[in-house]
Amino acid sequence: MEVIVRSNAEQTAQLAALFIAKQIRQKPNLVLGLATGRTMERIYAILVQMHHNDDLDFSKCHTFNLDEYIGLPTEDHNSYRSYMNHHLFKQVNIDINNTHVPNGMAADVTHEGKRYEEAIKKVGGIDLQLLGIGETGHIGFNEPLSSLMSRTRDKSLTPKTRQQNAEMFGGDPNKVPSRAMTMGVGTILEARSILMVALGSSKAAIVAKAVEGPITSMISASALQLHSSCKILLDEDAASELAGREYYDWVFQNEPEYESYR
Ligand code: F6R
Repeated sequence: MEVIVRSNAEQTAQLAALFIAKQIRQKPNLVLGLATGRTMERIYAILVQMHHNDDLDFSKCHTFNLDEYIGLPTEDHNSYRSYMNHHLFKQVNIDINNTHVPNGMAADVTHEGKRYEEAIKKVGGIDLQLLGIGETGHIGFNEPLSSLMSRTRDKSLTPKTRQQNAEMFGGDPNKVPSRAMTMGVGTILEARSILMVALGSSKAAIVAKAVEGPITSMISASALQLHSSCKILLDEDAASELAGREYYDWVFQNEPEYESYR
């Protein structure tokens, strides 16, 4: 795991977009795992700019989103399918048939979980998984006590997560769906590389626990410590409770891999 800290949210999003763009240019048929939420909005906006200004080509990419609310039809403006169409898919040259979001309206959620896992397998697995982190430590919607080996399935959201996402539902946490389909922690860990991004002081305590604390199913993001190719990209506020900061900065300044990004 490598932790990279940038001075503000804009620089963090710029670097995340550069990492993603580099992988797309190296492998045009990249399989991308995608996240939604506020953290991702600016990253997608920069990728859209790169598509228009620097020929970043999504035409051969496949994408798999982490999660979707249960009970929201795709056309609902709060569905994660709507979010993705709006922020990325409709603004770049991706083939919409190659974009995948779990079906939150599936009558049989167990079958939907299996179908989603099969679809990921069929394209050869995820090359780069993009993640945010929730205040409960969730990645995807893997709330506390999610098995570290879990696969795509339905999951109950915690009151804290419903509160965190209430803003999009007119400020009322009771309007946030109580369940979601989500890739499992085990599914996420199978991605060949992972990029987790966190912004702001509300994430500082949970980021420190996930990165420097023990691996525990109480904090799903702590399972990322098990992954051999995982970058954690933070702004100053989200990094403010990390104990090992000096070493992380030294690595970023000295590793040849990061030379072109410094
Ligand atoms: C969304 C997802 C979640 C979010 C997390 C952070 O698809 O999987 O894990 O990444 O809740 O959300 P924001 O960025 O809104 O703070």
